Amino acid sequence: MTPTNPPTDQDACELLDADHIAVKHLFVEYARLAMLQADAAERTALAMKICEELTVHAAIEEEIFYPALEDALPETSDLMEEAREEHQEAKDMIAQIQAMGEAGPEMDDLVAELNRAIEHHVKEERDEIFPKAKGAGLDLADLAQQMRERQQALQTADAA
Ligand SMILES: [Fe+2]
Ligand SMILES: [Fe+2]
Repeated sequence: MTPTNPPTDQDACELLDADHIAVKHLFVEYARLAMLQADAAERTALAMKICEELTVHAAIEEEIFYPALEDALPETSDLMEEAREEHQEAKDMIAQIQAMGEAGPEMDDLVAELNRAIEHHVKEERDEIFPKAKGAGLDLADLAQQMRERQQALQTADAA
């Protein structure tokens, strides 16, 4: 996500969960627009934003957060594998949404399906992964800093 003034005291779990909450708001807004059958261009733009935000979020987890947790606590490898599989499923849906081009009933259905998949995945991160990360002796402030930097680099690359 792109908060205007990201609080720098956020730890890694707080940073990731702030992303989860921000994208949830975008999904709720999309559902509202879909229900109203609002302007297709507006729905399309929102769907593309959801896809971009989730892509950056998945990248910082896969590149920084998951490997750090797996290194610190090798017994989390099954949990990490499951999380990576769920990311892959989400990426497949994201690619389909991006390929659709313009919002319509098909995009509305797929965005709703992606919302449910992300909801499930976020619940696992909150209930299982974050508690492990907090007990793993990781430097969560440093991980947050690394993820913030990577997030900014990816967002800049997106905008270019
Ligand atoms: Fe994730
Ligand atoms: Fe996440």
